[in-house]
Amino acid sequence: MQKTINGLYVTAKGNPDNQSIIFVHGFPYDHNMWNFQTDELSKNYYCVTYDVRGLGKSYVGDGQYTMEAFVWDLFSVIDGMKLNKPVLCGLSMGGYVSLRAVEKDQNRFKALILCDTRSQADDNEGKLKRAMAINQINTEGLAAFVEPFVSNCFWKQTIKKKPDFFKGILESTKKHNPVGVKGGLIAMLSRTDTTKALKKFKLPTLVLVGKYDALTPPEVMEKMAKKIKKSDFYIVPKAGHMAPLENPEYVNAKILKFLAKLD
Ligand code: MLT
Repeated sequence: MQKTINGLYVTAKGNPDNQSIIFVHGFPYDHNMWNFQTDELSKNYYCVTYDVRGLGKSYVGDGQYTMEAFVWDLFSVIDGMKLNKPVLCGLSMGGYVSLRAVEKDQNRFKALILCDTRSQADDNEGKLKRAMAINQINTEGLAAFVEPFVSNCFWKQTIKKKPDFFKGILESTKKHNPVGVKGGLIAMLSRTDTTKALKKFKLPTLVLVGKYDALTPPEVMEKMAKKIKKSDFYIVPKAGHMAPLENPEYVNAKILKFLAKLD
């Protein structure tokens, strides 16, 4: 099932009567990055994904985005799909959205799954990198930015062992509207720090990170997981920053085990 809610391209798989899971993808990808999870989990769960504004098939508008607007968008999809206490699952930028959404209103959710993300806001170095990225897109075009960026997201061995798979993903990122990609960079560089809120999180939380994640490494995520009361933490073998795509068997098994424990 596909539909548009509030300008956002939304898809759903599975039986709507089952426990729902809403997935928020990373940057600069789209809802398809969750296909390995939704194909498997939709056998027993109602899996909803959407394209974050500016990316994939969602509306682009003027590119003046904030993380807060990304959270309003998430809430609009939950309301538009009439989801009752979904499990929230976000990767990286999707994790930033999820962390802020839980900080704002955790009662909306049943549980939380955080993949390859962090609670800290961008530091000065990170902000300057985003500024350079925006400049690079303006002066050299989107492909010049996404090629090194997307390569850095994957474990080197994934790229070596599955070159066609990697190339397919890379090529799909080149199709985004550059205005939307720049809007995502602005939203991430101006996001708030959610670290202090972690100790207030009451939701059962699963924290997963690729062993070779160069952007949000295991030590960063382990510290974050320790601050969340009811958290389970796992390092995903044979994976970089895109763990659900790089080692879906391991990630799906951990998610299924986590979901089975929820009442
Ligand atoms: C992502 O995967 O969503 C991005 O790498 C996040 C970021 O650039 O901070």
